[in-house]
Amino acid sequence: MTISNDVGTRTIRYNGKSDFSGEFVVEDVICDSGQISRRLIFLNNPNVIQSDVALSVVKKKGKEKIIFKRVLACEHHQIMSIAFGLLSKLFKYDNVIDTLLVGLGGGLLAFFIVDVLPNIKLTAVEIDKEIVKVARDYFGLPKQLEGLDVLVDDGLKVIENTESLYNIILLDVDNKSVTEGLSCPPPAFLEEKALLQMKSKLNSEAGILVLNLVCRNVKLKTSYINLVTKLFPLVYSYQVGSDLNNILFCFVSIPPGTEKQRSGEIKGAIKWLDNVVASRAQRKQSKNQSQTNHSEWNSDAKQFFDEDVDFIEEQFKLLKIK
Ligand SMILES: C[S@@+](CC[C@H](N)C(=O)[O-])C[C@H]1O[C@@H](n2cnc3c(N)ncnc32)[C@H](O)[C@@H]1O
Repeated sequence: MTISNDVGTRTIRYNGKSDFSGEFVVEDVICDSGQISRRLIFLNNPNVIQSDVALSVVKKKGKEKIIFKRVLACEHHQIMSIAFGLLSKLFKYDNVIDTLLVGLGGGLLAFFIVDVLPNIKLTAVEIDKEIVKVARDYFGLPKQLEGLDVLVDDGLKVIENTESLYNIILLDVDNKSVTEGLSCPPPAFLEEKALLQMKSKLNSEAGILVLNLVCRNVKLKTSYINLVTKLFPLVYSYQVGSDLNNILFCFVSIPPGTEKQRSGEIKGAIKWLDNVVASRAQRKQSKNQSQTNHSEWNSDAKQFFDEDVDFIEEQFKLLKIK
């Protein structure tokens, strides 16, 4: 979820309505660069982009075909994905990474995680079945994708009832009521009981909660950050560039080493992710994947992060260590 601040030629591709999301649109925006960006917008929060994918249109035998680009368009998704590198570098974790993502939206982050990162088992929870359909019909999410299980349910209920122990829980979930200035996640996800519930469903030796917090109300934002730092022994915050997104990396346990060694490992985690994306870009797609209406990973994708590694590492702010 990012705040929309650009203008361009807009074409509405789909007008939808559902019990959970109210009215929503899928729109294509031609940006100044000529790049087409397809976005999911909930009309109760029209300045916020829920999902964003880059695409191009090619003409084949007189018919237009849409090719989705395999690039994570949202910067906060790139940053959230560093958690996988942190698991590898800080905890030396190299088993299957059991991951829960709350908020499928257009499915861009989910698709990236299972298609690009190694050793992933991902459950993505989406409260709105209409949005799952939109992900498949308009954002190119394949119906079947190895390693991805999509559940239509309330993420909080899934967390409460699951018997799994996850390595990573990613919260990328919008608040349907934005009157308090909190766009992401809904306040129920930020109650002490819920946060403790999440903590208890994470692997105690290698577990990270990654929370995308978007809050315009500074007092409220500070109170949520204070609560998170009270409950988790190690917390880093990353303020995403021009956006309002604060990504909180909440560790269930403290990885070994000094803080200096840990910042070295954070840099290693960013490089790790960059390399994984670059080598995925070079791998030939399997027959199955080429049926998904996505282009192959192209040279753009090799430039994974919008910023360089040193800059990204500097943006990790240690909020608390017990
Ligand atoms: C910002 S979008 C997610 C974007 C997505 N991660 C992507 O890669 O494009 C937020 C999504 O969270 C869903 N959502 C809202 N409340 C939820 C809940 N309680 N449980 C699960 N999903 C929820 C919304 O319907 C919406 O699709």
